[in-house]
Order: sequence, then structure tokens, then C-alpha cells
Amino acid sequence: MTDKKRRVGVYPGTFDPVTKGHLDIIRRGRGLFDELIVGVAESTSKTTLFSVKERLAMMRAELKGVKGVRVESFDTLLVDYVKSVGATTVLRGLRVISDFEYEFQMALTNRRIEPSVETVFMMTQDNYAPISSRFIKEIARFGGDISHFVTPKVVLRLKSRYSKTGSGKE
Ligand code: COA
Repeated sequence: MTDKKRRVGVYPGTFDPVTKGHLDIIRRGRGLFDELIVGVAESTSKTTLFSVKERLAMMRAELKGVKGVRVESFDTLLVDYVKSVGATTVLRGLRVISDFEYEFQMALTNRRIEPSVETVFMMTQDNYAPISSRFIKEIARFGGDISHFVTPKVVLRLKSRYSKTGSGKE
């Protein structure tokens, strides 16, 4: 092997819960890197339904046996996390045009804080474009069918959470 530098990417998110749309980006995105690290954000501005431990466990269960992908949590600035794991690139998915403005601002802010970190975007598959974790939770809370959007394991997790309390809060 030559001394070519390993390409490590980070796919960050809250993943509350992980959706088929996220998994689609991970499966397609991992081919761009020697290693893709899925970074589960421990604390975000969002109030999460699942704890970081649960979100990590769900993501790990989905990606068990998938080569070239590692799942970790982080609780720092994204760019600091990216540097700490020896990565140079952030991978983000774009679903709809309205994602663009937020993603653009985030990428520019991250570049301002840390110019060495690049952000690349991948278009989600059109059948996953309308998915959002928030909508999935809402449908699940009212007992609707979410099997198109999340895997059977995640369906079970959501069902069990909402059957306990109705609101999902423990
Ligand atoms: N398919 C389906 N849904 C998708 C998707 C895809 N491909 N890509 C994004 N989404 C959904 C998510 O489920 C989520 O839905 P929700 O808002 O209903 O929960 C939404 O789109 C985007 O959320 P997510 O991808 O989880 O990203 P986020 O915006 O919550 O994550 C972090 C943001 C964690 C990357 C950001 O807060 C961060 O970097 N935090 C660390 C602190 C930091 O550095 N802050 C400065 C940033 S400039």
C-alpha cells in the first residue's frame, strides 16, 4: 500500500430515531470514504424522545456487519469531533430544497470555525425525501403506519415507547 492518506468522513445527526433515509445516505456515502463514522449527537437543541444510549444502540443495530462504518456519540462542536477522529469531511444528506438554506448556513459556519473541515452533500433517494424523524414520531404516537419510513426494529422501539406512556416521555 502507498502512503495515500486514509479518507475518513463523519455523518452527524441526532437520529431520534434513525430512518431509512439516514440509512440510505450511510450505505451510499460509505463508498466515498475509507471509513465513515456515524456521529450521534449527544445533546442538540432538540428535545429527544430517545436517550443518546438508545439512539446509539438503534444505529448500531441497523449497521451491524456493515463494513467501513463505525458508530459513536459526540458531545462537542462538530468540527472538533471531526478533527479528533482524524476525519476531514462532514457528510450531510439533502432531501428537499428547504434543507438547503439550513445546511448551507451550517456548512459555512463550520468552515468559519475550522477551515480544514469540508462538508459534502448527498441527495437522498426521492422516496425518502419527505421523511423527518419528527413526523415519524408524530405518526407513531397516534398509532399510524411508519413501516415505510423506518426499519422493523425501530418500529418496535417506537411502539414500545409510546405504549408505555402515550406521550413517549418516561
Ligand atoms: N432522511 C430522512 N430524514 C433526514 C435525512 C435523511 N436523509 N437527513 C436529515 N433528516 C431529518 C432528520 O431526521 C431530522 O428530522 P427532525 O428535525 O424531524 O428531527 C432533520 O432532518 C435534520 O436533523 P439531523 O439530520 O438529525 O440533523 P440535526 O440538524 O438534528 O443535527 C447536528 C445537527 C447534530 C449535526 C448539529 O446540531 C451539530 O453539529 N451539533 C454539534 C454542535 C455544533 O457543532 N454546533 C454548531 C453547528 S454550526
